[in-house]
Parts: sequence; C-alpha cells; structure tokens
Amino acid sequence: MIRDATLPPGPRAPRAVQTLGWVTRPYAFMERCHRRYGDMFTVKVAQEGTWIFLVDPDAVKQVFTGDPETFHAGEGNRVLRPILGDNSVLLLDERAHMVQRKIMLPPFHGERMQRYGDLMAQIAAEEIRSWPRGVSMPVAPSMQAVTLEIIVRAVFGVTESERLVLLREALRNLLAFGTRASTFLLVALLGPDRAVRVGPAPAALGKVDRLIHEEIERRRSEPDLEQRQDILSLLLQARYEDGSAMSDEELRDELMTLLVAGHETTATALSWALERLVRHPHALRRLREEVDAGEDAYVDAVVKETLRLRPVLPIVVRKLTRPASVGGRDLPAGVTVAPCIYLLHRRPDVYPDPYSFRPERFLEQPAGTYTWIPFGGGIRRCLGASFAQFEMLTVLSVLVRELELRPARLEREPVSRRAVTLTPGRGGEIVAEPRATPGRTREPVASGVREPVGAA
Ligand code: HEM
Repeated sequence: MIRDATLPPGPRAPRAVQTLGWVTRPYAFMERCHRRYGDMFTVKVAQEGTWIFLVDPDAVKQVFTGDPETFHAGEGNRVLRPILGDNSVLLLDERAHMVQRKIMLPPFHGERMQRYGDLMAQIAAEEIRSWPRGVSMPVAPSMQAVTLEIIVRAVFGVTESERLVLLREALRNLLAFGTRASTFLLVALLGPDRAVRVGPAPAALGKVDRLIHEEIERRRSEPDLEQRQDILSLLLQARYEDGSAMSDEELRDELMTLLVAGHETTATALSWALERLVRHPHALRRLREEVDAGEDAYVDAVVKETLRLRPVLPIVVRKLTRPASVGGRDLPAGVTVAPCIYLLHRRPDVYPDPYSFRPERFLEQPAGTYTWIPFGGGIRRCLGASFAQFEMLTVLSVLVRELELRPARLEREPVSRRAVTLTPGRGGEIVAEPRATPGRTREPVASGVREPVGAA
C-alpha cells in the first residue's frame, strides 16, 4: 500500500477525473499540474497505479542512469504482451532485457542507416506521386503508408511483390485493430490476454504470425543471406554470447516489436513536422534551400525541433521495484516514475522562447542527453532512434524537393490521442502543389504563427 503522504503533491481530483484530463486534453492537463505543483508531481490515471511526473533534468538523469533492477521499464508495457510475445525487448527487464537488447543493437547502429536512404527516398517519392494537387489533404494516412512500407522492406526485407502485398495487408489489419477505440474498451474490460482472443483479433494476429514465420524460414535458406542488408537478415546471423542464434519465436517477437514501436510513431512525427513546417514559411524555405544544396544539418535540426515541440510520446515510465531517492525525494516501491518529455522540452531555462518552432536552436546548441528525450534514455533508449531520425530526414527532403507545401488552414492543429501517441488533430492537413521550377521556390503564403503558451 502506497501512502499518499510520502508522495509529491498532485491533483486531488478523483482518479476518474484525472484520467479524463490525461486522455482528452493531455497538453493542458500536464501544463496545469506543472504550474500548480512544480517539477515533480503525482498523478493517478486509470489502472496505471501512481505516476510521479519528473520535469527536472537532474531527476530525469537519475532515472535514466539508475539501477535497472530498481527501475523497471518492461513491466509498464505488459499490455502489449499478447501481441508482441514473451521475448520482446520492450517487455523484458534486467538481465533478460540486456541480453536481447545487445543482440539487436548492431543492426540499428547510426551509420548503418545510410544504407536504407535510397529505399526510403524511393518509397516516399512513389507515395507522393498519388497525392492530389492544389486541394487540402491530411498527410497522416500517407505517412503511415510510407512508414509501413519502409518497415516491411527495410526491416522485414520483403521485396517480392506478391508477398509484399500479403504482408502489408495483414500488418495493416492488425495495426488498425490495435489502434481502434473499441480495442481499448475490450482491453479495459477483459484484460489484454483475453481481449486478443475475441472478435477479429485472433484471425488478424494468426495471419501475421504465419506470414512472419514463413518469411523467417525462407530467409534462413536464402543463398545471399550474408549479403543482405535488411534487419531480419542481420538478426538471423546475429549470435548471443554463448554462440547460439535467435530462435524463431524470438525473431518473430522482435520483428513484431519493431513494427509496433516503429510504424505509428515515425508516421506521427512526420505528420507533426509537416504541420509545423507549413506554418513556418521561413523554416520551410530554409529547409528547401539547404536540401537543394545537398546539406543535411538544417533538416536534422527540423527533425529535432519537431520532436522537441511535438513529442510523439509525452512520457516514458519506470516502475520502482524497491524504494529509491529521485529528485531529492524518497519514493516507495510500487510507484512509477515518469520523465515527462513534453514538459521537459518546454523548460525556458533550457530552451529560450520554448513555445516557438525554431529549428535553428539545434544548430546553435546540440541536443542534450537529459534535456532532449523524445526517444527516452539510458539502457532503454529507443533502439530505432537513428533509424527514425534518418527516415524523417529522408522523407522530408524528398517532399520539399518535389513539392510546394502550404497549410490548408492557418490555425495550428490541436493534439489528439491515438492509443499512446499524440497526433495532429486534423491529420496534418496540407495543400501540395507541383514545384514551380526545380531548384527555385515559390513564396509560401502563410506567415509564421507563434504557439500560444499552454496550448492544448
Ligand atoms: C519518431 C519515432 C519514434 C519515437 C518518438 C520513439 C520513441 C520511443 C520511446 C520514447 C521509447 C521508450 C524509451 C525509454 O523507455 O526510455 C522507445 C523504445 C523503443 N523503440 Fe522507439 N521510437 C520511434 C521509432 C522507432 C523505430 C523506427 C523503431 C524500430 C524500427 C523503434 C524501436 C524501439 C524499440 C525496440 C524500443 C524498446 C527499447 C528497449 O526497451 O530497450 N522505435 N521508442
């Protein structure tokens, strides 16, 4: 039993009311709590137990560098177990997590990502060919198609068109089921294990499982396995410290993890990047000039500034298995500490004029390990962080090189929740036109829009 008297202050409203605030107006809810209670506050949400939000970089550092036996991350993701499986790196803790993470790290090493550049650019260019010109359209569905295709081809390594269609469709069905509101209700009512045994879930999951297992088997017998660059082929050749290879079940669980962790997140981040860029013509113009000149520094800064101001996930969580001192406070076992990405990224002492979208700040000052944390941190930091940033950089470069982009409406998009991700409320509406003259830009129509403080 956790006694409230030992915890930092926080809203006194009933759990149901706090849950409503967190689910329906997350930005406003977090900002209100921060204003009222400071850099460390207690929140009670749904079945999640007790969350201690952390907004101070030193406290965040303590969590990210803390003992993995005390700070459990895997436990918080249990709800995903029926889909991801028992071996998923996202669900494991302590030694089992380190063993699995170590074998998966090399294929995601930063420099390796360049090899996927041509494929990513080609997929993005194919997608925008079908975009309507001169009319308003939401980019989110299109960005989802791009990131799914990139995962199927760069991660799963499927290229044969017939299998590509089968796998793409099966994954899309499964993901659509996973993000539907009714699924949340089912999970809440039945718990995750039983929820995947009713309705369309078993068939959707069974189909994906079958296709993934077939792919693993086929790939293992490919004569060119050693030359292949896709992540499945690299994982097939990876070895644990004792020299053994990953089992089929482990491979299946990790592929599923990469899909679930890497698809929606990157699509959302790309949609936010476009939502911000079209409302900041100076940034958009500079981005195009630098892309035309073959420079990557500014597009990299745009990616970082988007993830600062519109982080896809507002918090990361670690459950305490034993008492620990964090941010100068002794916390009991059983509570969950939550470094708050969203609020940390809006600290004026770290980011002057924090509500402005200003990519230049990342040209002037590098992103800090404990102050820029869209990918979490420490030994749980997102495995796909380099992959995702390179993917965003590549897709954005193709878009601005090929098209004129402008906002469909000037007012910024509200935030809306899609499962655990925070997405643009109108799906990132834009208007795309063919580029007037290659290498020359037309003047964008909108003027820069500053973000109102405390916007929800
Ligand atoms: C913009 C896109 C993305 C964002 C914002 C994002 C964010 C995150 C965050 C916040 C975490 C938890 C970190 C922590 O607890 O400290 C995480 C974990 C993870 N992400 Fe990502 N991610 C993105 C894209 C990807 C991609 C493309 C992949 C793979 C293809 C991926 C694979 C993973 C994996 C495997 C983990 C678990 C790491 C572990 O527990 O050791 N992510 N991600």
